[in-house]
Amino acid sequence: MKKILITGGAGFIGSHVVRLFATKYPDYQIYNLDKLTYAGNLENLSDIDKNSNYHFVKGDIVDAEFINQLFETERFDGVVHLAAESHVDRSITNPMEFIFTNVVGTVNLLNAAKNIWKDNYEGKRFYHISTDEVYGALGDTGSFKETTPYSPHSPYSASKASSDHFVRAYHDTYGLPTVISNCSNNYGPNQFPEKLIPLFINNIKHNKSLPVYGKGINVRDWLYVEDHARAIDLIFHKGATGSTYNIGGNNEWKNIDLIKKLIEILDRKLGRPEGTSLQLITYVTDRAGHDLRYAIDATKLRTELGWEPTIKFAEGFEKTVDWYLANEKWLDNVTSGSYQDYYRKMYGE
Ligand code: NAD
Ligand code: TYD
Repeated sequence: MKKILITGGAGFIGSHVVRLFATKYPDYQIYNLDKLTYAGNLENLSDIDKNSNYHFVKGDIVDAEFINQLFETERFDGVVHLAAESHVDRSITNPMEFIFTNVVGTVNLLNAAKNIWKDNYEGKRFYHISTDEVYGALGDTGSFKETTPYSPHSPYSASKASSDHFVRAYHDTYGLPTVISNCSNNYGPNQFPEKLIPLFINNIKHNKSLPVYGKGINVRDWLYVEDHARAIDLIFHKGATGSTYNIGGNNEWKNIDLIKKLIEILDRKLGRPEGTSLQLITYVTDRAGHDLRYAIDATKLRTELGWEPTIKFAEGFEKTVDWYLANEKWLDNVTSGSYQDYYRKMYGE
């Protein structure tokens, strides 16, 4: 019987990780710790939240006293840490929130794990989920390796880089059994519609303009969220202690090409004449410090642990569009904030 703490489990990627762990490992007790910020939505887990091995804890990782108390009481065997402020644009307007949650929150969790495990680290693991954005921006060629020097440009990526350094420091200084992964852009069901793909699906559906930053020439490497969750499962169980693994989709898209593909799929599914929604494209002022290109070299994960993405982009993209079209209520709820009602109904406060 293992007790695993997953932080940020009500968010986009976290909810897929909680589902995978709670269903694949019925003998684990899964604790989902989430503050339920605007991005945390318990409806994401409504299919598994009655499972007897699933437990929800509402709380803030920035609150050290609360975190220490929780670890003292529950004595987790492992931590999968996803809770974060995750949107670059919000980090530009409000960087402090990113420093509190992403840096201070991570160090609070490291301290709490270190205190309860007290140098007897046998069978314990602290897994920190991070992003490829810590490596900075690439030119037209090359890809990020685990050895690429950190060069973050946004307050978001700087806060994630800082938290990665603290995780490594706790491994090197205190011997804490840590592991880190840095993943490329995820897409799929349950992503908050402030990120490119769900935002543009929602806007196309409602005939609203599509704000393309700059010239739309920035490149991202897109991975289906369930493939990321599978990689997290593998690294949590088999990754080498103290190690870092890059995770990527080997699937680079220039923003404008991805947007045109999305328009093609949606016009077809919405029964609009081909190309109708192209007129919604609106070029707007570029994001400050906008990284030109991200690309991941995931050779280490493939050769050491045998991981490969399983969902082809054409299939994953269609599935994603279908999910947002079929889950209109989910979209409306997260955009109106009324999913808070769901929380009150489920947990009574
Ligand atoms: P998200 O914004 O969808 O979810 C974040 C979750 O963390 C939410 O449920 C939120 O309520 C919770 N949270 C925020 N602040 C908290 C706090 N102080 N205490 C407790 N809970 C808090 O994020 P996501 O896109 O699912 O990303 C999850 C993790 O994966 C993050 O660490 C992010 O840096 C990393 N990551 C994301 C991507 C991506 O493409 N989305 C890619 C690589 C890595
Ligand atoms: P985003 O989904 O915010 O992820 P990230 O910035 O972490 O890569 O953005 C993906 C790309 O899309 C990025 O190059 C910025 C661009 N973008 C737009 O052009 N318009 C938008 O409204 C948004 C949200 C993003």
